[in-house]
Amino acid sequence: MAKYIMALDQGTTSSRCILFDKAGNICSMAQREFEQIYPKPGWVEHNPMEIWSTQYAVMSEAMALLGAKPNDIAGIGITNQRETTIVWDKETGEPVYNAIVWQCRRTAKDINLLVKDGYADVIKAKTGLVPDAYFSATKIAWILSNVAGARKKAEEGRLLFGTVDTWLIWKLTGGAVHVTDYTNASRTMLFDIHNRCWDKELLEKFNIPEVMLPKVKPSSCIYGYTDPSVLAGNVAIAGAAGDQQAALFGQCCFEPGEVKNTYGTGCFLLMNTGDKPVESKHGLITTIAAGSDDQLHYALEGSVFTGGAIVQWLRDEMRLIRSSSQSEDYARMVNDTNGVYIVPAFSGMGAPYWNPYARGCVVGLSRGANKEHFIRASLESIAYQTYDVLKAMESDTGHIVKELKVDGGASANDFLMEFQADILGAKIRRPKCIETTALGAAYLAGLAVGFFKDLNEIRDNWQLASTFESSMAPSDRDTLLAGWRRAVKCAISYTD
Ligand code: G3P
Repeated sequence: MAKYIMALDQGTTSSRCILFDKAGNICSMAQREFEQIYPKPGWVEHNPMEIWSTQYAVMSEAMALLGAKPNDIAGIGITNQRETTIVWDKETGEPVYNAIVWQCRRTAKDINLLVKDGYADVIKAKTGLVPDAYFSATKIAWILSNVAGARKKAEEGRLLFGTVDTWLIWKLTGGAVHVTDYTNASRTMLFDIHNRCWDKELLEKFNIPEVMLPKVKPSSCIYGYTDPSVLAGNVAIAGAAGDQQAALFGQCCFEPGEVKNTYGTGCFLLMNTGDKPVESKHGLITTIAAGSDDQLHYALEGSVFTGGAIVQWLRDEMRLIRSSSQSEDYARMVNDTNGVYIVPAFSGMGAPYWNPYARGCVVGLSRGANKEHFIRASLESIAYQTYDVLKAMESDTGHIVKELKVDGGASANDFLMEFQADILGAKIRRPKCIETTALGAAYLAGLAVGFFKDLNEIRDNWQLASTFESSMAPSDRDTLLAGWRRAVKCAISYTD
């Protein structure tokens, strides 16, 4: 009997593999970071071959830690950084260009033209998305227009497009399977989320040949089996979902109205809205949520582009801390930020502002501002951005969120969680397992292969580790939020 489910968590800065048991415990984990490529300001790329080699390496490492064999693995679930775009040659398997990462702003001007043309409403109605360079459509179009010979080859059916899930499944199956799941398809800005199909009008608008697109399937089903060149044994690849939808599933937010916030590279707040797509009037997006069946499940999403990544920035670029956990120590050395606000609009701003030209700013500096204030303001910026998207969600749904489930790396930071509870005036609930993204992928795969019986069995695995409650006076909250709003105005007044 297989003992584990394998989750491949291909994120923005690292590839990870986690083996879970039936109780949702982490039995082994391996992780490798890979290169971030910044060819120009605002451009972000990854090497698709490095995405694959790091992912492959951590699979082997996680298995070796337990001495696990392929027949110990009941199935593989994949979860991935979404929207990131890869185009490769069907015959040779060679990518024709680097992966264009979700954060990349290179196509912002193309989006401006679409919006000027009055096309935003069409895109929103079909795809649920606010037109933005974040999504895959303009990234694919950019590759076809800028890589010599790519358009002709694509039209001849010799190139394939995929988000990272598709790329990994294709590699794992030795090039036999070209698929994606509903959640990832819903981030391309080419997928009709109501009729679950690639939209012909949008494909024409972006001049993308349909032949290069993957087949779209549910998030929990067997897509194919690992090729012998990858694993010495055929393991079913049985689950796939974009990382944020996987986290929603891993947090057991199965019912309409349930919400989670993941503090990863970005911050992504998702509310399950059941079988009804809710259209946002406050700058959120409508997206497909992962389900254990063939039905469509929807979510409302607030996407914040820079969340936990600000801690890495403090460490790697500003060199103010040596490890992520030090940010908490410094933040606690001061009682406030001394009026300093940091808006980390490094890749523009996502929900609810949607401004690709916004750039990061620091405001409110006075002579007494010091390193501790700067670090504290950086952490607080994550909580303020979450506040903005949560309020938008409440306005859209009329549902006041009293409790927020959290996960992702930065949710381990107690200072951040305390401040988050204070600024929201809501309760924060952090589960024992904050690797919820991987867990969600494991659940989706495990359900498809019968490793998990049903959603109830999965629900029983969710265990609370900590609760954070607000102790901030409403008047203090109002004062802090007023300062944040002024700081955001500075960030979005920046233009290219
Ligand atoms: O939409 C982008 C998102 O999927 C990236 O997730 O975890 O790498 O911040 P993460």
